[in-house]
Amino acid sequence: MFIPEEIIEDVRSRSDIVEILSEYIILKKAGRNYKSLCPFHNEKTPSFMVSSEKQIFHCFGCGAGGNVFNFLMKMEGLTFFEAVKKLATRAGVKLPSPARNREFSREYKEKESLLKLNEYVADYYHRYLLELKNTGQTRTYLKKREISLDIIKKFKIGYAVKGNNLLRSTQQKGYSLELLKKGGLVSFYAESQRSRDYFQERLIFPIYSHQGQVIAFGGRVLSEDKKPKYLNSPETLLYNKSRNLYGLNIAAGAIRSRGQVIILEGYIDVLTSHQYGIENAVATLGTSLTQEHVHLLKRYTEEVLITYDADSPGISATLRGLDLLLDSGLRVKVVTLPSGKDPDDFLRENGKEAFIEILRKSLPLVEYRLNLAMANADIQTTEGKVYVAKEVLPSIARIRNAIEQREEIRKLSQSLHLDEESLLIELDKIKSRDSKPSGLDKVILKDTSGIEKAQRELVQLMLIDHDTIGQVKDELKPGDFNFLGLGVIVEEIFKLSSYTGDDFAVKIIDSLQNEHLSQVISQLILEDRKYIEKEKTVEGLIRTMKQYNLRQKYEKLEEEVKNMLDRNQQPSVKTLQEYKDLIQALKGSRRN
Ligand code: GTP
Ligand code: MN
Repeated sequence: MFIPEEIIEDVRSRSDIVEILSEYIILKKAGRNYKSLCPFHNEKTPSFMVSSEKQIFHCFGCGAGGNVFNFLMKMEGLTFFEAVKKLATRAGVKLPSPARNREFSREYKEKESLLKLNEYVADYYHRYLLELKNTGQTRTYLKKREISLDIIKKFKIGYAVKGNNLLRSTQQKGYSLELLKKGGLVSFYAESQRSRDYFQERLIFPIYSHQGQVIAFGGRVLSEDKKPKYLNSPETLLYNKSRNLYGLNIAAGAIRSRGQVIILEGYIDVLTSHQYGIENAVATLGTSLTQEHVHLLKRYTEEVLITYDADSPGISATLRGLDLLLDSGLRVKVVTLPSGKDPDDFLRENGKEAFIEILRKSLPLVEYRLNLAMANADIQTTEGKVYVAKEVLPSIARIRNAIEQREEIRKLSQSLHLDEESLLIELDKIKSRDSKPSGLDKVILKDTSGIEKAQRELVQLMLIDHDTIGQVKDELKPGDFNFLGLGVIVEEIFKLSSYTGDDFAVKIIDSLQNEHLSQVISQLILEDRKYIEKEKTVEGLIRTMKQYNLRQKYEKLEEEVKNMLDRNQQPSVKTLQEYKDLIQALKGSRRN
């Protein structure tokens, strides 16, 4: 869906952050700002700040932050557009009518009809199951699997009989065959020109979107000798299995309040977990975890627990796939179940307490991979060390936080009895291989405390004082800001620098559309630092950065020259000239 930028701005300007947030939390005035207990994590003393002037919030406890849209997205699990829509309605701003765009409107209508159909179908199958006699094979099966009536109702589990009952019933209700086909509810045979029910003699699990709409179905056979065990709806206008998670609509509240989601592999595992009171559990829909799942989950939590059977083949490859979770800044932990058991088996055999104990013993992904690799290698040998480093370094390379990353390197060096330096060199190689052009995840590993501070302060100054932007723009490039996404923010600041409205920062947040960067910005603004003699400060910071960049270049070149000399090669005249120039420039910049 597309909403023109003017309209987004209009909605934002009519939605006062203090007023909107007051509908969710109690705000107390504190100086120029407002304070509250953070709704996104547990705390006893308020570290959640709201600036009415800048229309920005930030929690100094958990790092959540951004503008009014970010708050609503996080609070209610909405997408950006849903948040805009909600506030538009509230503020009485009319969004462009869908009818204006014919294509859009057609698809929109079709989605609406499919949703209506799916809801009817879910009810239909569910009612059928509830009305079945207790002695029938379906209810007997559910009893055998110990699935309670509560859970059957909560997840609206149903049953599809043999024959074309759904086809008949829906057509009686006036749903067209065309729509049934589009919804993947009937199979059509071109040869005989006949249609039949897609799901037959199967237990039905409606699949809901995170907002609670029925978007697809999964069907399980009752007897193990029939194949396939599960039949799922094909992908439709509504359903994309790499974007949805089974049970998320029900688990959302628990995921937020516990600050953690548990990802399981099967429908039944989710049912059992919920039945045993573990209500922050969801399952993928027969795929491995995707980037889209991660985006979805990030709206709810920062911590993801993944369950694996440690002895299953291909575990190491599966874990490699999880590195993408680290990219997004999520904390990923791996839960190890005893060999051959899925959570369903485990819970029924050992109960809730034992399961919780296992969850408690979960290990951070990097540590888990390290243990697994160590168990498969002889680290007395060089090959063994190389193997372990190769398994673990890619995960470490993707940790966002530089301090955490450094800590993992330290642990790895201890486990392998290797010096940190050589691991850092390997890490750098991996990073430059993986590095994205945006520079978003680029982290400097050398002693950076001073330079990070300088970069942060410059960005902070540009955000709170518009006049600073020109001064910085004349002297530095976005690429000079190489700390944790600052470069991307600077790029945006430069791009929008002709805009001088009070809502400059909130505008930057909207155009970046990135949660991590929103948090960086909201923090910089709400730190509320006072700078005396701004212009001089800015000059000084720019000088610090330039000098640092020169130093970096110089060290790199020095290393190159040294390597060449070690190999008895003569550096070119050009290289030597460059080297001399750098030394001169460094001397000069120090005198300044
Ligand atoms: P039970 O075997 O009844 O305990 O169900 P389960 O949900 O634990 O299933 P299992 O662990 O065998 O598989 C995990 C998930 O993989 C399922 O929930 C399905 O999403 C998917 N899956 C398993 N078998 C099939 C299949 O035959 N076809 C498809 N499309 N998906 C399957
Ligand atoms: Mn199972």
